[in-house]
Amino acid sequence: MSDTSTESIAEAPFYPMPRAAGCPFAPAPEVREIATAGPISRVRTWEDKEYWLVTGFDEARELFPNPDVHLDNLHPEFPHTNASMKGLAALSPRTMFNSEGAEHARFRRMLAKPFTPKRLETMRPLIQQHVDDRIDAMLAGGNSADLVKSLALPVPSGVICELLGVPYEDHAFFQHHTEVGFDSNTSQEEAMQNTLQLLDYLNKLIEIKTESPAEDMISDMAEHVRAGDLQPWEASLQAVGFLAAGHETTANMIGLSVIALLEQPEQLALIRDTDDPKLLINAVDELVRYMSIPHIGLRRVAVADIEIAGETIRAGDGIIFDLGAANWNPEVFPDPERIDVTRENAAQNLSFGAGRHNCIGIQLARIELAITLQTLFRRIPGLRVTASYDEIDFKEEAMVYGIHRLPVEW
Ligand code: HEM
Repeated sequence: MSDTSTESIAEAPFYPMPRAAGCPFAPAPEVREIATAGPISRVRTWEDKEYWLVTGFDEARELFPNPDVHLDNLHPEFPHTNASMKGLAALSPRTMFNSEGAEHARFRRMLAKPFTPKRLETMRPLIQQHVDDRIDAMLAGGNSADLVKSLALPVPSGVICELLGVPYEDHAFFQHHTEVGFDSNTSQEEAMQNTLQLLDYLNKLIEIKTESPAEDMISDMAEHVRAGDLQPWEASLQAVGFLAAGHETTANMIGLSVIALLEQPEQLALIRDTDDPKLLINAVDELVRYMSIPHIGLRRVAVADIEIAGETIRAGDGIIFDLGAANWNPEVFPDPERIDVTRENAAQNLSFGAGRHNCIGIQLARIELAITLQTLFRRIPGLRVTASYDEIDFKEEAMVYGIHRLPVEW
């Protein structure tokens, strides 16, 4: 186990570090400095405990798939993001989100069916329809809107609702509770109540789908519960995870990408004008690299000693991966502060994680972002943001970076 003496606690910098004011897309300057000094280092977190911080791209690529690096949030040395997450973890059973080995592979196999690239390709017309409907409504409503409320949130929310079989008319309920759940300032008590309400909602939906199954993921989960492959709590927790991860992440990416691209008209034009689906997906990967929206570190714990970059990570040491530092590593991504939608290795970015827990929704998110951004810039060519950075409420404190609102005109 690591040295947690008072002296070393005083020396290690506090993590996470804030992004720079006036530069809302760049990783925290302090974390970039740490990355320049070396690929792994020590940081201190809210619990006054020291953990490893991995800022190196190659080291992250090596460690994520290592079978001795576990996403085990029940381990006593797991580096929780805050007290609420720690409290919730203590009450959670094992699911896909905190299991390893054969157990994780079993959960993932059970839930991966709708996310094969082939299946997702068939969803393009449906996603296009969601986007067109939202833009029709924006145009019919005048010449200004809140882009988050009118497009960025409804598109991924509508799509994940269809996949899961969640009624879209409940969107205000689940969007609100997801935002509260991702907010690092949410108190432990509030986080508990919040999660219980979401669990209760999805639990009831699973019961409904047990009685009247349909062609959707919740019905599949209900069938697994009926067959005894999933416990009811495992099913509802995983459904909460899919519902939350399936809309909040992509919504934040849409909002941030619109701001960034409106400032880079030549990059925007490449996205708007291309008929090459590969370039469009590459552009999305580049934006995902640039923003690094999971911006307070992916968390793991070592279960055996690991030698890396001249250091020994001991069994029982907590590890935090800072994606922003790795995604802005100039040796891997030259001129990282520049959005280059033609960047050849954009797909190597780490914003979707890596290894066995990597994002199951990666292809869905890519397609949603590609269709939404291209359609928006084609259909509303005069789009402009009407707020300065100072006036935009960036989600600095949230586990997933993004924006709350985005006033636009055309
Ligand atoms: C731009 C959008 C998205 C980003 C940046 C993103 C990012 C991530 C990251 C970084 C992880 C790994 C977490 C870790 O290793 O600790 C992850 C896992 C996951 N994501 Fe996404 N995600 C996005 C969209 C989606 C969508 C649309 C879904 C919808 C279904 C989804 C579902 C999941 C699930 C279920 C996992 C857990 C996988 C596992 O533990 O095996 N994500 N995501």
